[in-house]
Amino acid sequence: MPAQAPGKYYGSEPRPFPNELLAFSWAALAQELGVTEDGAFNMAWIAVDRHVAAGRGERIAFRFLGEDERRSELSYRELAQLSDRFGNALTALGIGRGDCVFLLCERRCELYVAVLGALKIGAVVSPLFPAFGPEPIRNRMAQAGGKLLLTTSSAYRRKVLPIREQLPALQHVVLIDDLGAGPQAATLDWDSLLDAAPDRPALVPTAAADSALLHFTSGTTGTPKGALHVHQAILSHYATARQALDLQVDDVFWCTADPGWVTGMSYGILAPLAIGATSVVDVGDFDAVRWLTLLEREGVTVWYTAPTALRLLIKGGPGLFAGRHFPALRRIASVGEPLNAEAVAWAEASFGQTIRDTWWQTETGAIMLANTQSAKPGAMGRPLPGVVAHLVRRRGDSAVDGLESPEMLGEKGEEAVGEAVGELALETPWPSLFRAYLGQPERYRACFAGNLYLSGDLVRRDADGDFWFVGRSDDVIKSAGHLVGPCEVERVLMAHPAVAEAGVIGKPDALAGATIKAFVTLKHDVVASEALRSELLAHARRQLGPAVAPREIAFAECLPHTRSGKIMRRLLRARELGEPEGDNSTLE
Ligand code: WT7
Repeated sequence: MPAQAPGKYYGSEPRPFPNELLAFSWAALAQELGVTEDGAFNMAWIAVDRHVAAGRGERIAFRFLGEDERRSELSYRELAQLSDRFGNALTALGIGRGDCVFLLCERRCELYVAVLGALKIGAVVSPLFPAFGPEPIRNRMAQAGGKLLLTTSSAYRRKVLPIREQLPALQHVVLIDDLGAGPQAATLDWDSLLDAAPDRPALVPTAAADSALLHFTSGTTGTPKGALHVHQAILSHYATARQALDLQVDDVFWCTADPGWVTGMSYGILAPLAIGATSVVDVGDFDAVRWLTLLEREGVTVWYTAPTALRLLIKGGPGLFAGRHFPALRRIASVGEPLNAEAVAWAEASFGQTIRDTWWQTETGAIMLANTQSAKPGAMGRPLPGVVAHLVRRRGDSAVDGLESPEMLGEKGEEAVGEAVGELALETPWPSLFRAYLGQPERYRACFAGNLYLSGDLVRRDADGDFWFVGRSDDVIKSAGHLVGPCEVERVLMAHPAVAEAGVIGKPDALAGATIKAFVTLKHDVVASEALRSELLAHARRQLGPAVAPREIAFAECLPHTRSGKIMRRLLRARELGEPEGDNSTLE
């Protein structure tokens, strides 16, 4: 592993968390969120109805922006009432506690109402990416035995009808836009369903440990796993939104993720509602001009997005920013992929705001590390209050051998300090920790060793205690005896002014075990040439040393990404080596 530049703090040195964020207990938080001692605990009640009960019902929960500039707003009271109706409609259809409800539609009002209504009656909610084709839909719904699907007429016709026969558990399909033509065969219509439903409260007394959310994750490798979360996860959503995003009740928040990804659920729906803030929801996908206009015009104060989007904005060039001002914007945070230091510097120049990186996973359910109090560009930050992070090395070759007692790395052994590179492991439990991989108990057990959750991410902790991403353990390259994290190489390439994005893979090599190949995309005004290729190779060799510098660099128009914005190195590798591409359901 090459020595990493020490990393400088931007602006001020790291500050400790303020006391009100540090001195918290989960029990006290639950009390703050109105949870009573009777054992009932429902995340939708905490997210929505609690505010109505406290006289904040007229505040705006969501501001929806449609394709054609149409805007509509939904207050907390309206959201409470509509979700009651949908919950009651589900009950009338025989859907109850523990039944799985799937959602497949764009980010529109009905999706958000349905999530909360289904949670209210104890159903388990599983949102799918709206761009999924029939096979990923079938795979996920079959795994979970989904009983009800909410979708649009066109998605139903194109994607669900062809596989409906293969989903014996699927009892009801609700269409949210059955406009006038009358319900299609064997489907129900959203409007009629809601009109017929009583508008009394739909709450059933769910418990803190009842299942609530099911998020499928394939990461960048392997087949989809359904990570199950419970109602009390909202305690983590609430706490971390305050700690890591500084989200407050007066904020206009924009989380750009789709609820088909856990970010769009934890921070696109539950966290901002728990806090009582207003969220902007844009139906469209990434578009540089639209996004900047939205940030400016809607007065977004806190913006949570992903490095891919930021890099696309960088790629668009400074002209995008001419004449724009973002006086309301006070915090930008990022998640999902390493955030390179250049992107941070770019944001400071373009928005007048730094970007705070955050690290977490579908499995952790909420942010665990963040660059909140210590803004060191390129680093992911430090554990949030209440999170205890260790770096470990699994003993033995197989994960299972290593399970009993992974070796703790660092100066003082178990004390989790000092410089080290290892697998990031977190002390359990916390409210949003996943409770199962649906139907795969061994795979779930393999994620834990004693009281530690093993993340599968290789991470470096520097002498200051800041954490740096090295790579997914499955992406790490062994080249001539060196362990190379692809992100380390990508970070160096992206530091070159011509490079917009880089993806790095290992290619099998008889001599070295693997050699390193990089795929790069260039900034908008840069033309690929042999001279540039040599320059990039030399730049990488200078920064990384010959052992871990890429041997090959290929220019690409774009890199394959998952829908959540991660570079799919597995796919780059498969294409390079002419191997089967495997499960591509999350490919953007
Ligand atoms: C993986 C999790 C991302 C949150 C939602 C769930 C990678 C996440 C960072 C970061 C570098 C990151 C890790 C992690 N990742 N945050 N700040 N820097 N890498 O996402 O689909 O379950 O993916 O995303 O590899 O394990 P997910």
